[in-house]
Amino acid sequence: MATRPKAQQIAGETAKTGADGKIAVLVIHGPNLNLLGEREPEVYGRTRLADINKELKSLGRELEMKVDTFQSNSEGGIVDRIQNARGKCDVLLINPGAYTHTSVAIRDAISAVNIPVIEVHLSNVYRREPFRHHSTIADIAHGRIMGFGAESYSLALRAARTIAEESRRRSG
Ligand code: DQA
Repeated sequence: MATRPKAQQIAGETAKTGADGKIAVLVIHGPNLNLLGEREPEVYGRTRLADINKELKSLGRELEMKVDTFQSNSEGGIVDRIQNARGKCDVLLINPGAYTHTSVAIRDAISAVNIPVIEVHLSNVYRREPFRHHSTIADIAHGRIMGFGAESYSLALRAARTIAEESRRRSG
């Protein structure tokens, strides 16, 4: 029986490392996050989305992971990107923005692709308005990281590596 290279066995049958064997992570940013740096800086900080993405790519290089980033203001765009990740990525980091609180479509897309998900938020949503306390994906996420501003993403990327490595160990 043909065996896949060890690095490609991460997450069992859903392992999606790139051809080079690196752990592949997709980072999805939802609506209005394109305005980071300018948008309500007292809530979301002054770091721009481009800088967050740059930092994630750089940390990815350091951790020997392949990091792709994507932003969309539209729910359908996010659903399409999640579907497109099927079979191609080991861990998904997602900040669905306001869709966190409303989107059944994003939840269903995550369930459909069977990729472990880390839910990320810049702000601690529990210190904010009650309508932000509900997340449609919280109970299907592997974990949630919030409240650390731009650093929430770096923490999530480190956690993604741990998740992928544990899967690798499990699948021998
Ligand atoms: C957010 C929190 C959401 O409630 C809000 O709609 C966002 C950003 C965050 O990262 O803190 O757009 O997801």
